[in-house]
Parts: sequence; C-alpha cells; structure tokens
Amino acid sequence: METIPFAQYQESADYLAARLRDFRPEVLLILGSGLGYLADQVEEPLAVPYGEIPHFARSTAPGHAGRFVFGRLRGRRVAVMQGRLHYYEGYSFPQVTYPVRVLRLLGAETLIVTNAAGCVNLNWPAGTLMVMDDHIKLALDSPLRGENLPQFGPRFPDSSQVYTPALRTLAASVAAEQGIPVEHGVYLYMPGPQYETPAEIRAARLLGADAVGMSTVPEAVVAGHCGMQVLGISLLTNMAAGILDAPLSEAEVLRAAAAGRERFSALVLGCLEKMPGPDGTMAAT
Ligand code: HPA
Repeated sequence: METIPFAQYQESADYLAARLRDFRPEVLLILGSGLGYLADQVEEPLAVPYGEIPHFARSTAPGHAGRFVFGRLRGRRVAVMQGRLHYYEGYSFPQVTYPVRVLRLLGAETLIVTNAAGCVNLNWPAGTLMVMDDHIKLALDSPLRGENLPQFGPRFPDSSQVYTPALRTLAASVAAEQGIPVEHGVYLYMPGPQYETPAEIRAARLLGADAVGMSTVPEAVVAGHCGMQVLGISLLTNMAAGILDAPLSEAEVLRAAAAGRERFSALVLGCLEKMPGPDGTMAAT
C-alpha cells in the first residue's frame, strides 16, 4: 500500500482554505448513521461535496450524503462530515482517514465522532448511549501503516489516551445536566460489512468490549496521531449478534438510530457548546 504523499493532503487543504476564505473550523464532526441531519442545523453553512475537493474519495454507503458542511454550530466553528467513508466500502484506511488530516491542516483541534454500534454489554439495553473511553482494534491493518509523515505525528504514537479524558468527563456532565442516561465503555472495531457472528460477540465480551462497530476507530487513531482531542459517542442501536434470537439488519439499525437521535444530538450539541478549546477557552457566544 502506497503512503499518500503529504503534498496531496496539503493540496486538498489549500483548496478548502480558498473556498472558506477566512473561516477556519476548530471542530471536525463526523456523523454516523442517523445523525447526518445535524448538518442542517449549521448556521451560515457552506456545503462542499467531497467530489469537488482534489484527491477526495466519495462515500457510497446508504444514508451518507457525502459532503462537508462548514459553519457555526452552538457557537463553534465546525466542519461537519455529512457522510463518512468506511473500510468495508473498499477504501483503504488512509482513504477513510484522509479528511481528518486535511481538517487538521486547516487548523481543526478537535474531532467529535459518532457512530451506531451493536451492544455487547449484557447489562445495557439496546438504545444505550455510550461515551467511548477506549477501543480495541483487532484488524491487522492500520491507517498509520507505511511511511510516517512527521508533519502529522510520530512513528510510534502513544495510544493510552486516544479519547481525551477531559472530553469524556465533559460528556458525562453534559448528559447528567440534561438528564440523558449514558454509559462509558470500550468499542471493538470490526471491519465488516457482515455483522459479527455470535461467537465473535462472545469473544468480544471476553476481550472487554462493550460495543462493536465498523467505523470511528481509524479516524480516532489518525486524529490522535496528529495531536487532536477526540470525543467518540456511540448509539448502541441493537443488541449484538447472538444475544437475542433475531437476525441483525441494517433496517433495524437505521430505525433505532432514528429513534435515538434526539438524545444523541442533544448530547453531541451540549458537548460542542461546553467544550473548552485546547487552550482552555470556551466557545464564543
Ligand atoms: N455490529 C457492527 N456494527 C454495527 C452493529 C453491530 O451489531 N450495529 C450497528 N453497527
């Protein structure tokens, strides 16, 4: 696998910088299944389809629109990815995580990433919102494999705090304030696209996973590598395979994602609003 040259990231960033004039996003929001509509709440929006950006791949997954919406959300300058790329669509990890690095070059300091996931923890019901405290990635490939680009980060990045502790705590306090129940847990990344087998889910539980899903971890790894703060939130749309006596389906996941979206978006927006910048500053109001 070829490493994507730094110059390509820079060309994509330069293109966006020209489109955005003097606007520079501070937060990159990657929205998972069912939450894409949050992009419609962005004020003074500028939409840029991925296809217009040099070197960008397009999203093919259903329910993913495939564009950035830049603007203001809860006082923050944001870039919202309405539609993300997945490894199971055939993209390489460097392609999946490409937008994270481009937004980093544009100055974004924080990644908020959401997803729909299966619930592995038997003590939680389907519909649980989970703050990602950590992840397990058994997939052998890494988005950081290949030549390291030191402009982004070190060859062997520390992974002891991929999900920024202060943002995990913030999510808990925002949830408590708004009366939204949340759990904290470990997300196991599976490449998909097939849902897991019951044996894989039993294995996941033995390994210490609370949730399982097909996204987010590549982006979080790359964001951590280039020094961004990361907040990951999962909506556990279904009990994972083998827990209930019923097959899993995308229709069920999308239905549950739609049913949970008020709580989910209230939590995400609350975190966005209350989040201190990396230098400790609050959002301009
Ligand atoms: N497994 C993997 N990914 C998912 C699931 C699941 O059960 N539900 C939603 N995304």
